[in-house]
Amino acid sequence: MNTADCILSRRSVRAFQDKPVPHALFEEIVGLAAYAPSWKNTQITRYIAIEDKAMIAEIAEKYAPFNAHVLSTCPLLVAATVIKKRSGYERDGSFTTDRGDGWQMFDCGIACQTLSLAAHDNGLGAVIMGVFDRPALEKYLAVPDDRELVALVAMGYPAEEPAAPRRKPVEELLSWR
Ligand SMILES: Cc1cc2nc3c(=O)[nH]c(=O)nc-3n(C[C@H](O)[C@H](O)[C@H](O)COP(=O)(O)O)c2cc1C
Repeated sequence: MNTADCILSRRSVRAFQDKPVPHALFEEIVGLAAYAPSWKNTQITRYIAIEDKAMIAEIAEKYAPFNAHVLSTCPLLVAATVIKKRSGYERDGSFTTDRGDGWQMFDCGIACQTLSLAAHDNGLGAVIMGVFDRPALEKYLAVPDDRELVALVAMGYPAEEPAAPRRKPVEELLSWR
């Protein structure tokens, strides 16, 4: 698949086949996502891969009811976390720019999209999810204090082929100076 095909045909997939994702395949996908750019190459994104069905069901029920329909068939739930106080920071602990620690979200977003594209290129579907009870889920997953949970990514072999939601035209997205 070339880059344009991969970008254009990737969709948020919210229904999955009852088939596990091989560890070796997911490790390859994480290895590809490692090539996402990051603030001063700090590479702060860390993934927690959850494949225990009972755990995914508990997360759906207690911490992410809005996305319960996605989690009901998801064989691999990825919690994308970041190591805090690195991206956007100087060595002395001060912020480099007026964005403060906002760059850590930026880095994690790029990493999640790279992960999603790599998954798609390898025949998997994925959806990035932001709607969940973050503080409570951080406790449940025992995310260390120096890390923050940013997003959940449901992944698996697709059981649906969603149509692409409408995109805005280039004229609306772009202005020249
Ligand atoms: C930061 C972020 C948060 C999202 N949160 C959710 C979510 O909680 N649940 C969900 O079903 N989709 C979620 N999505 C997926 C978007 O709805 C989806 O990307 C958008 O509708 C465009 O569809 P496409 O990915 O198929 O192109 C999220 C996407 C992003 C980037």
